[in-house]
Amino acid sequence: MQTPTPIIAANWKMFKTIDQAITFVVQLQGELGPVHDREVVIAPPFTALQAMRQIMNVPGFRLAGQNCHWEEQGAFTGEISPLMLRDAGCDYAIAGHSERRHVFGETDEETGKKVQALFRHGIVPILCVGETLEEREGGKTFDVITRQITAATEGLPPEASAKLVLAYEPVWAIGTGKTATPDQAQEVHRFIRDKCASLFDKDVAKGLRLLYGGSVKPDNVDALMAREDIDGMLVGGASLEVPSFKRIIQFHTGEK
Ligand code: PGA
Repeated sequence: MQTPTPIIAANWKMFKTIDQAITFVVQLQGELGPVHDREVVIAPPFTALQAMRQIMNVPGFRLAGQNCHWEEQGAFTGEISPLMLRDAGCDYAIAGHSERRHVFGETDEETGKKVQALFRHGIVPILCVGETLEEREGGKTFDVITRQITAATEGLPPEASAKLVLAYEPVWAIGTGKTATPDQAQEVHRFIRDKCASLFDKDVAKGLRLLYGGSVKPDNVDALMAREDIDGMLVGGASLEVPSFKRIIQFHTGEK
Protein backbone atom coordinates (compact mmCIF):
# COMPACT_ATOMS: atom_id res chain seq x y z
CA MET A 1 0.00 0.00 0.00
CA GLN A 2 1.24 3.50 -0.86
CA THR A 3 2.13 5.76 2.03
CA PRO A 4 -0.56 8.42 2.35
CA THR A 5 0.28 11.95 1.17
CA PRO A 6 1.05 14.03 4.26
CA ILE A 7 -1.23 16.94 5.12
CA ILE A 8 0.00 20.11 6.76
CA ALA A 9 -3.09 22.03 7.81
CA ALA A 10 -3.37 25.57 9.16
CA ASN A 11 -6.20 26.30 11.57
CA TRP A 12 -6.31 30.07 11.69
CA LYS A 13 -9.14 30.13 14.23
CA MET A 14 -10.50 33.68 14.67
CA PHE A 15 -7.48 35.41 13.12
CA LYS A 16 -6.88 37.32 9.86
CA THR A 17 -8.95 39.68 7.76
CA ILE A 18 -9.49 38.96 4.07
CA ASP A 19 -6.53 41.13 3.05
CA GLN A 20 -4.24 39.50 5.59
CA ALA A 21 -5.31 36.04 4.43
CA ILE A 22 -4.62 36.81 0.76
CA THR A 23 -1.27 38.45 1.49
CA PHE A 24 -0.23 35.43 3.56
CA VAL A 25 -1.08 32.87 0.89
CA VAL A 26 0.48 34.84 -1.96
CA GLN A 27 3.71 35.20 0.01
CA LEU A 28 3.71 31.55 1.11
CA GLN A 29 3.12 30.24 -2.40
CA GLY A 30 5.80 32.55 -3.80
CA GLU A 31 8.37 31.33 -1.28
CA LEU A 32 7.43 27.64 -1.48
CA GLY A 33 7.14 27.21 -5.22
CA PRO A 34 5.24 24.14 -6.49
CA VAL A 35 4.18 21.63 -3.83
CA HIS A 36 4.00 18.04 -5.05
CA ASP A 37 4.49 15.51 -2.30
CA ARG A 38 2.33 17.01 0.45
CA GLU A 39 -0.99 18.80 0.79
CA VAL A 40 -1.19 22.25 2.32
CA VAL A 41 -4.66 22.86 3.77
CA ILE A 42 -5.71 26.27 5.05
CA ALA A 43 -8.75 26.84 7.26
CA PRO A 44 -9.31 30.62 7.39
CA PRO A 45 -12.28 32.35 9.03
CA PHE A 46 -15.47 31.89 6.98
CA THR A 47 -15.33 35.50 5.79
CA ALA A 48 -12.09 34.89 3.86
CA LEU A 49 -13.06 31.62 2.15
CA GLN A 50 -14.59 33.01 -1.00
CA ALA A 51 -11.78 35.51 -1.58
CA MET A 52 -9.13 32.83 -1.08
CA ARG A 53 -10.73 30.37 -3.42
CA GLN A 54 -8.97 31.59 -6.59
CA ILE A 55 -5.46 31.79 -5.18
CA MET A 56 -5.82 28.40 -3.46
CA ASN A 57 -6.60 26.83 -6.80
CA VAL A 58 -3.06 25.58 -7.39
CA PRO A 59 -1.67 22.04 -7.03
CA GLY A 60 -0.96 21.04 -3.46
CA PHE A 61 -3.18 23.71 -1.87
CA ARG A 62 -6.65 23.07 -0.43
CA LEU A 63 -9.21 25.18 1.38
CA ALA A 64 -10.98 24.10 4.58
CA GLY A 65 -13.79 25.28 6.80
CA GLN A 66 -13.18 25.42 10.55
CA ASN A 67 -16.64 24.16 11.49
CA CYS A 68 -20.15 23.76 10.10
CA HIS A 69 -23.72 22.93 11.00
CA TRP A 70 -25.11 19.55 9.99
CA GLU A 71 -28.21 20.83 8.19
CA GLU A 72 -28.09 22.01 4.60
CA GLN A 73 -30.11 25.16 5.32
CA GLY A 74 -32.63 26.45 7.84
CA ALA A 75 -33.35 28.84 10.67
CA PHE A 76 -30.00 28.49 12.44
CA THR A 77 -28.79 32.05 12.97
CA GLY A 78 -25.03 32.37 12.81
CA GLU A 79 -24.37 28.92 11.38
CA ILE A 80 -22.78 27.84 8.08
CA SER A 81 -23.82 24.64 6.28
CA PRO A 82 -21.64 22.07 4.48
CA LEU A 83 -23.40 23.06 1.26
CA MET A 84 -22.19 26.64 1.79
CA LEU A 85 -18.65 25.47 2.54
CA ARG A 86 -18.64 23.49 -0.70
CA ASP A 87 -20.04 26.50 -2.52
CA ALA A 88 -17.17 28.62 -1.17
CA GLY A 89 -14.59 26.15 -2.47
CA CYS A 90 -13.78 23.95 0.53
CA ASP A 91 -12.44 20.43 0.07
CA TYR A 92 -12.02 19.85 3.81
CA ALA A 93 -13.61 20.98 7.06
CA ILE A 94 -12.56 20.57 10.67
CA ALA A 95 -15.14 18.75 12.81
CA GLY A 96 -15.10 18.43 16.59
CA HIS A 97 -12.16 20.73 17.30
CA SER A 98 -11.50 20.84 21.02
CA GLU A 99 -12.46 24.53 21.17
CA ARG A 100 -15.84 23.62 19.68
CA ARG A 101 -16.23 20.84 22.22
CA HIS A 102 -14.88 22.61 25.30
CA VAL A 103 -15.67 26.29 24.70
CA PHE A 104 -18.96 25.87 22.83
CA GLY A 105 -20.12 22.64 24.42
CA GLU A 106 -20.46 20.55 21.27
CA THR A 107 -21.17 16.90 21.89
CA ASP A 108 -19.87 13.70 20.31
CA GLU A 109 -23.29 13.21 18.75
CA GLU A 110 -23.26 16.65 17.11
CA THR A 111 -19.75 16.06 15.82
CA GLY A 112 -20.97 12.79 14.29
CA LYS A 113 -23.82 14.59 12.52
CA LYS A 114 -21.34 17.11 11.11
CA VAL A 115 -19.07 14.33 9.83
CA GLN A 116 -21.99 12.66 8.05
CA ALA A 117 -23.27 15.95 6.62
CA LEU A 118 -19.83 16.94 5.32
CA PHE A 119 -19.44 13.67 3.45
CA ARG A 120 -22.91 14.10 1.93
CA HIS A 121 -21.63 17.34 0.38
CA GLY A 122 -18.33 15.96 -0.86
CA ILE A 123 -16.23 17.58 1.86
CA VAL A 124 -13.66 15.51 3.74
CA PRO A 125 -13.93 16.01 7.50
CA ILE A 126 -10.83 16.46 9.60
CA LEU A 127 -12.19 14.85 12.73
CA CYS A 128 -10.44 16.07 15.88
CA VAL A 129 -10.15 13.88 18.96
CA GLY A 130 -8.13 14.26 22.14
CA GLU A 131 -8.12 14.03 25.89
CA THR A 132 -7.89 16.73 28.56
CA LEU A 133 -5.02 16.76 31.07
CA GLU A 134 -7.32 15.40 33.76
CA GLU A 135 -8.39 12.52 31.51
CA ARG A 136 -4.77 11.72 30.65
CA GLU A 137 -3.70 11.79 34.28
CA GLY A 138 -6.68 9.61 35.17
CA GLY A 139 -5.56 6.98 32.63
CA LYS A 140 -8.60 7.62 30.43
CA THR A 141 -6.91 8.71 27.21
CA PHE A 142 -7.76 5.59 25.19
CA ASP A 143 -11.34 5.47 26.51
CA VAL A 144 -11.95 9.09 25.50
CA ILE A 145 -10.47 8.61 22.03
CA THR A 146 -12.51 5.44 21.54
CA ARG A 147 -15.71 7.20 22.55
CA GLN A 148 -15.03 10.20 20.32
CA ILE A 149 -14.16 8.17 17.22
CA THR A 150 -16.96 5.65 17.67
CA ALA A 151 -19.62 8.33 18.13
CA ALA A 152 -18.41 10.45 15.23
CA THR A 153 -18.15 7.64 12.68
CA GLU A 154 -21.20 5.54 13.50
CA GLY A 155 -23.03 4.48 10.36
CA LEU A 156 -20.43 5.96 8.02
CA PRO A 157 -20.40 4.10 4.68
CA PRO A 158 -17.08 2.30 3.92
CA GLU A 159 -16.18 4.60 1.02
CA ALA A 160 -16.51 7.59 3.37
CA SER A 161 -14.49 6.10 6.24
CA ALA A 162 -11.65 5.43 3.79
CA LYS A 163 -11.38 9.17 3.10
CA LEU A 164 -11.73 10.44 6.65
CA VAL A 165 -8.83 12.45 8.10
CA LEU A 166 -8.34 12.24 11.87
CA ALA A 167 -6.44 14.70 14.00
CA TYR A 168 -5.18 13.73 17.44
CA GLU A 169 -5.08 16.95 19.42
CA PRO A 170 -4.47 16.47 23.14
CA VAL A 171 -6.39 19.34 24.74
CA TRP A 172 -3.51 20.01 27.16
CA ALA A 173 -1.18 20.67 24.22
CA ILE A 174 -3.35 23.12 22.26
CA GLY A 175 -2.10 26.67 22.45
CA THR A 176 -0.13 25.90 25.62
CA GLY A 177 3.35 25.49 24.18
CA LYS A 178 3.36 21.96 25.65
CA THR A 179 3.68 19.47 22.81
CA ALA A 180 3.09 15.76 23.18
CA THR A 181 6.45 14.03 22.82
CA PRO A 182 6.88 12.03 19.62
CA ASP A 183 6.51 8.87 21.75
CA GLN A 184 3.27 10.07 23.36
CA ALA A 185 1.85 11.10 20.00
CA GLN A 186 2.93 7.90 18.25
CA GLU A 187 1.38 5.79 21.01
CA VAL A 188 -2.03 7.42 20.56
CA HIS A 189 -1.77 7.48 16.77
CA ARG A 190 -1.07 3.74 16.74
CA PHE A 191 -4.06 3.24 19.01
CA ILE A 192 -6.26 5.32 16.65
CA ARG A 193 -5.12 3.32 13.63
CA ASP A 194 -5.82 0.03 15.41
CA LYS A 195 -9.22 1.32 16.53
CA CYS A 196 -10.07 2.31 12.95
CA ALA A 197 -8.94 -1.13 11.77
CA SER A 198 -11.52 -2.70 14.06
CA LEU A 199 -14.25 -0.15 13.35
CA PHE A 200 -13.74 0.08 9.56
CA ASP A 201 -11.29 -2.30 7.92
CA LYS A 202 -7.60 -3.16 8.24
CA ASP A 203 -6.55 -1.89 4.82
CA VAL A 204 -8.65 1.24 5.16
CA ALA A 205 -6.97 1.98 8.50
CA LYS A 206 -3.50 1.65 6.96
CA GLY A 207 -4.30 4.30 4.36
CA LEU A 208 -5.92 6.82 6.73
CA ARG A 209 -4.16 10.09 7.36
CA LEU A 210 -3.71 10.75 11.05
CA LEU A 211 -2.61 14.29 11.90
CA TYR A 212 -1.12 15.50 15.15
CA GLY A 213 -2.03 18.91 16.56
CA GLY A 214 -1.07 20.82 19.68
CA SER A 215 1.76 23.36 19.79
CA VAL A 216 3.38 22.14 16.58
CA LYS A 217 6.37 24.38 15.84
CA PRO A 218 9.29 24.48 13.40
CA ASP A 219 11.52 22.89 16.04
CA ASN A 220 9.35 19.88 16.83
CA VAL A 221 7.75 19.07 13.47
CA ASP A 222 10.56 16.87 12.11
CA ALA A 223 10.65 14.57 15.14
CA LEU A 224 6.87 14.22 15.16
CA MET A 225 6.59 13.62 11.41
CA ALA A 226 9.32 10.98 11.62
CA ARG A 227 7.06 8.64 13.59
CA GLU A 228 5.39 5.82 11.77
CA ASP A 229 1.73 6.62 12.37
CA ILE A 230 1.93 10.40 12.10
CA ASP A 231 0.89 11.52 8.63
CA GLY A 232 0.52 15.24 9.04
CA MET A 233 0.07 18.23 11.29
CA LEU A 234 -2.82 20.48 12.29
CA VAL A 235 -1.22 23.77 13.24
CA GLY A 236 -2.74 26.71 15.10
CA GLY A 237 -0.45 29.45 16.42
CA ALA A 238 2.56 28.61 14.27
CA SER A 239 0.44 28.75 11.09
CA LEU A 240 -0.23 32.46 11.48
CA GLU A 241 3.21 33.63 10.32
CA VAL A 242 4.66 32.69 6.93
CA PRO A 243 8.21 31.76 8.09
CA SER A 244 7.07 29.31 10.77
CA PHE A 245 4.29 27.75 8.71
CA LYS A 246 6.58 27.43 5.71
CA ARG A 247 9.21 25.61 7.79
CA ILE A 248 6.53 23.25 9.10
CA ILE A 249 5.37 22.51 5.55
CA GLN A 250 9.01 21.82 4.65
CA PHE A 251 9.43 19.18 7.37
CA HIS A 252 12.01 16.54 6.64
CA THR A 253 12.15 13.14 8.25
CA GLY A 254 14.50 10.91 6.29
CA GLU A 255 13.11 7.40 5.73
CA LYS A 256 10.23 6.34 7.96
P1 PGA B 1 -1.86 25.25 18.40
O1 PGA B 1 -3.36 24.88 17.95
O2 PGA B 1 -0.95 24.79 17.31
O3 PGA B 1 -1.86 26.72 18.59
O4 PGA B 1 -1.60 24.49 19.68
C1 PGA B 1 -3.65 23.66 17.32
C2 PGA B 1 -5.12 23.55 17.04
O5 PGA B 1 -5.93 24.06 17.82
O6 PGA B 1 -5.53 22.94 16.03
